[in-house]
Amino acid sequence: MDQYGEWAVVTGASSGIGREIASQVAARGLSVVLVARRQAEIETLALEIEKTWKVKTLTVAVDLALPESRVAVVEAVHGRSVGLLVNSAGFGSGGEFVKADFAGQSEMVEVNCQALLELTHVFAKRFVEQKRGGIILLSSIVAFQGAAYSANYAATKAYVQSLAEGLRGELKPYGVDVLASAPGPTATGFGSRSGMRLSNPASAETVARQTLDALGRKGTVVPGGFAKFLYASLMTAPRFLRVKIMRGIMKSMTSEKP
Ligand SMILES: NC(=O)c1ccc[n+]([C@@H]2O[C@H](COP(=O)([O-])OP(=O)(O)OC[C@H]3O[C@@H](n4cnc5c(N)ncnc54)[C@H](OP(=O)(O)O)[C@@H]3O)[C@@H](O)[C@H]2O)c1
Repeated sequence: MDQYGEWAVVTGASSGIGREIASQVAARGLSVVLVARRQAEIETLALEIEKTWKVKTLTVAVDLALPESRVAVVEAVHGRSVGLLVNSAGFGSGGEFVKADFAGQSEMVEVNCQALLELTHVFAKRFVEQKRGGIILLSSIVAFQGAAYSANYAATKAYVQSLAEGLRGELKPYGVDVLASAPGPTATGFGSRSGMRLSNPASAETVARQTLDALGRKGTVVPGGFAKFLYASLMTAPRFLRVKIMRGIMKSMTSEKP
């Protein structure tokens, strides 16, 4: 509560990792602002959280691909003491870049990068002023090298990872903690939306718990057993080899043939 309370803003709270982080943050005593497009899902979760953890909730049903929605999130929390921002909203796609619909790829940059950038900028400024706070950015195991058959998604996550690493050093002197969480395959709605078959998935519960436990202690956490193994193996290889290995992994998770 002292470092990250009273309120946490969690994007992507209707499903998967964001939903689980919102619940676990509430279990640790913080009130939560739940942000996602699907209103029914976040309202149901809000009721569940209030009943179980006796904290307050606020739902903001918006499409973060739209610039005005990011302003709506900031306006919705006006007057509340926010100490934690979790940017979990995001999606990927599997398959050949040239076959992908351009609008969808562009929307991915809007949600995964632009919305995350805008919210991070607004709340980082606030946290610096109040000399406390935490920011969690959902990166990915694909952030550390290019990934064929998910090239744009991996590029969005490289942006997120780099932003988190840079901001950590910049905001630490102000008492603000920044964490990149880089999961591997996780059993959420991500696989079906991206059209990828995820092997050895971790549970969203594990990913959320290990992420929250790392806040204030590490700059990057790789939650989940398989992701840790994959990360440790990849990091011993030079970048060109990592790119090659990742191509094989992504090919096995999509229906691509070449
Ligand atoms: N699952 C994995 O294997 C995996 C691995 C590494 C990293 N990640 C990252 O983890 C984060 C969470 O993904 P997840 O696995 O929990 O997937 P998920 O279950 O599909 O959840 C994605 C969340 O993002 C929200 N979202 C997507 N587009 C949005 C938009 N335009 N506006 C507002 N909210 C939007 C969704 O809410 P609505 O649909 O209701 O809007 C949902 O709550 C993502 O950033 C993802 O890239 C996932």
